[in-house]
Amino acid sequence: MAVSPVEQISTSHFVREIEKNDGSVLKIYQYSTGDVGCVVWDAAIVLSKYLETEQFRHFRCDVSTWSSKHMLELGAGTGVVGLMAASLGANVTVTDLEDLQPLLELNIRENQGLFGTGSITAKVLKWGENVTEFLPHPDYILMADCIYYEQSVVPLVETLKLLAGPETCVICCYEKRTMGVNPEVEKRFFDLLMQDFEAEEVPAERQDPEFNSPDIHILHLRRRHS
Ligand SMILES: C[S@@+](CC[C@H](N)C(=O)[O-])C[C@H]1O[C@@H](n2cnc3c(N)ncnc32)[C@H](O)[C@@H]1O
Repeated sequence: MAVSPVEQISTSHFVREIEKNDGSVLKIYQYSTGDVGCVVWDAAIVLSKYLETEQFRHFRCDVSTWSSKHMLELGAGTGVVGLMAASLGANVTVTDLEDLQPLLELNIRENQGLFGTGSITAKVLKWGENVTEFLPHPDYILMADCIYYEQSVVPLVETLKLLAGPETCVICCYEKRTMGVNPEVEKRFFDLLMQDFEAEEVPAERQDPEFNSPDIHILHLRRRHS
């Protein structure tokens, strides 16, 4: 019997619930098999919960009015970070490779009731490719656990340089890994990125009191003034 895409999803997904500070719950569908983007990574939870903190509203990247802010998420995977931002009232574009679009669309549909004045759209954005569709420069670029493989270092930095304007705040959350090629990939990424950006790390006491970890770092990045 032929299986429709929706049935296929319903037999191969599992759900992770993320409770927000206001008591509402984001329901994040994940595939039980597939590439790295089809599950929620810890860095995405840490970043999502950080967006909810009072500290984020007042720490350099001022988000006093979410509704006027455009946020663009790179390598969104399940979309949890962007979904959190939209539920807080931001206008969000979540991006990832073509293969992840059905999962992003599913998670947007399943959480529709939480967006209120916010909005969220899923689009394909492959790092290193044309970004004209995503301009003007967003107020924020969000990325969780996107620094993990060697071939993406140059294209990812290129995309960040094209997307980030003088007023854009890039919020990069990543898990520091000590095994295999990870330390080298991370070093190459930051060496290249820091030629054009300056970074400020968010200390643990300014993150969510429960959802933080010594291995997971949050950076605010801005373009260097030329
Ligand atoms: C480790 S996953 C993290 C997913 C999500 N941000 C999270 O933390 O749960 C990395 C994501 O980057 C995406 N990705 C990898 N290479 C990419 C590329 N060249 N262009 C765009 N996205 C890419 C993957 O599809 C995947 O969703």
